[in-house]
Amino acid sequence: MTSNQQQADYWSSDPGRKWITFENELDIVFEAVNTALIARANPQPGENVLDIGCGTGATARAFASHLEPTGSITALDISEPLINQARSRADESPVTSHYHLVDAQNEQIPDAPFDLATSRFGVMFFSDPVVAFTNIRNHLKPGGRLVIAAWSNISGNPWFEEPRNGAVNRLGPMDISDPHAPGPLGFQDIERVTGILRDAGFQSVVGEEAEVILSHPGPLERVAALASNIGPAARVLKKYQGGPQDIEAIKNYVQDKFSPFETPEAVLIPARLNFFFGDNSL
Ligand SMILES: C[S@@+](CC[C@H](N)C(=O)[O-])C[C@H]1O[C@@H](n2cnc3c(N)ncnc32)[C@H](O)[C@@H]1O
Repeated sequence: MTSNQQQADYWSSDPGRKWITFENELDIVFEAVNTALIARANPQPGENVLDIGCGTGATARAFASHLEPTGSITALDISEPLINQARSRADESPVTSHYHLVDAQNEQIPDAPFDLATSRFGVMFFSDPVVAFTNIRNHLKPGGRLVIAAWSNISGNPWFEEPRNGAVNRLGPMDISDPHAPGPLGFQDIERVTGILRDAGFQSVVGEEAEVILSHPGPLERVAALASNIGPAARVLKKYQGGPQDIEAIKNYVQDKFSPFETPEAVLIPARLNFFFGDNSL
């Protein structure tokens, strides 16, 4: 069994905790991803739904409103601070909701079987994705479905590209590594991921690239600060032990690059995502 301890440590330390610090703004920026995910997953009243790698729980809460009155949601995460934060907001869910500290790859998932397993950006970090998706599939009902959202290629994704460039310019390069290694961009290759899902036993597997528009009410400086504190900039900052002055320099770089996305109403950043679908055959 390959361990995900490195991910548990990462998401329980400073970079993960920043998702709590910036929770409200991240929920706004990534709301468009929830909308796109829900449109594709088509959750139904009464269904039992699993949210994998739920972070602070925004996607679980968004799905919950579609499951009323008798459905239920189970959300899991490998990071204790993040699952505790999600659990602290459980009373906002209109249906029964459960939050568990679980490694989705290697552990039993409580409250199974599920009609639907979903995830917004929580499934690209597994050390052994075939084992992980086999485990997830084994917790679905016969005929249950998987619908997940991940980032596509970094080029065409300014939300990733500009903070990464700003951080690398300021601090230095990341190690050249496998582009498919566990990480936020690990599911950029649709063919590879559909192969993983098939190897994990899913049927009718499909991958689809689609554009969504990330929207933040602004001002631009806030958006730049947000993008400079999480994602790839956070990884570079962690590697070089960057401090507040480095974050400020990265933020200024990103603010400049994001200025074409500023409109009178909001900052609108185009993003390219990969959605993946699979069925647990009857
Ligand atoms: C990029 S964050 C996304 C959080 C949330 N889904 C959202 O969109 O706000 C990735 C999440 O996946 C979780 N994660 C990573 N590996 C995991 C694993 N093996 N099992 C469960 N959760 C995992 C992390 O702790 C983190 O909360």
